[in-house]
Amino acid sequence: MQNEEWKVVSKRMAVKPARIPPTIKKHNFQYLNKDFKKKDRSKNAMQNSSENVIYFIEEKMQALKKSEFFQELKKIIDFQLLPPNRPALVDIVCYGIGSIEKSCTSQYQFALMLLFKNLFQIIGKIYAYDPIFSQVDTEVLTHYNIESIKINEKAKRVVTNQTLFYMPHCPLGLYNNLIEANWDRIKLKDVIIVGNRFDFYNESSCVFYALKILKIHLFPSTTIQSPAIPDNTFNDLCWQWFPIDRVDSYKEDSEFWILKRESNEDQEII
Ligand SMILES: C[S@@+](CC[C@H](N)C(=O)[O-])C[C@H]1O[C@@H](n2cnc3c(N)ncnc32)[C@H](O)[C@@H]1O
Repeated sequence: MQNEEWKVVSKRMAVKPARIPPTIKKHNFQYLNKDFKKKDRSKNAMQNSSENVIYFIEEKMQALKKSEFFQELKKIIDFQLLPPNRPALVDIVCYGIGSIEKSCTSQYQFALMLLFKNLFQIIGKIYAYDPIFSQVDTEVLTHYNIESIKINEKAKRVVTNQTLFYMPHCPLGLYNNLIEANWDRIKLKDVIIVGNRFDFYNESSCVFYALKILKIHLFPSTTIQSPAIPDNTFNDLCWQWFPIDRVDSYKEDSEFWILKRESNEDQEII
């Protein structure tokens, strides 16, 4: 820390500094260095080092934890998504989160995923893929022990464990691919998705077809609950999963399990 940073402040000016995460200390991060004040950090967001990005994420995790939005979200998890209400999650697969280095929205979404890791006590792995990931993004993933997926699966991953697919604001084609790849009575029971509401899409999509056996629980509103979180971060997102009784109600209906997909085209998928 540089001495010239210290100055006498009146009580009104005094601001409690954010806790410096141990990871940052480890990297000899100069939190109060005058070359790296808060306003400069956001101004230079386009040219971040992984240490800076990790700092932003830790900051956002703290902000989320304190938010009403997160407290409400936790209630849904506690009462609907943890055992005995659902089987314990093993893995998280994250698609389409955007560049964590460059986007404030992606940083918030990523921070929430890290909080989910603890809430769900993930014992398996976390995987992530977005074709626009930068070198810094990959370093950040490594820092948090998240495996970056090496090939573009276009979300066609078939589940082998209870898996949370964390896909905030993904193109419809990715949701369709995921549903199509797992359109099976046994597999769907292992799938839970955080993403856009499937009931917003039209009848020609796989996700619309899936509505017959899908349970949807909306995310709380950040606008009302936590105005400090930017509006476009978690809007229109929800939990979506396939309760066993709903899936099993189509057990004998072989027609239902033949998915009729009209088109594989989606210009938004890279
Ligand atoms: C509308 S943006 C959402 C970004 C961010 N989650 C947000 O809410 O701002 C859609 C994201 O999907 C990503 N995407 C496109 N094709 C993909 C693919 N094949 N696999 C994973 N992500 C993909 C894009 O790169 C982009 O980051």
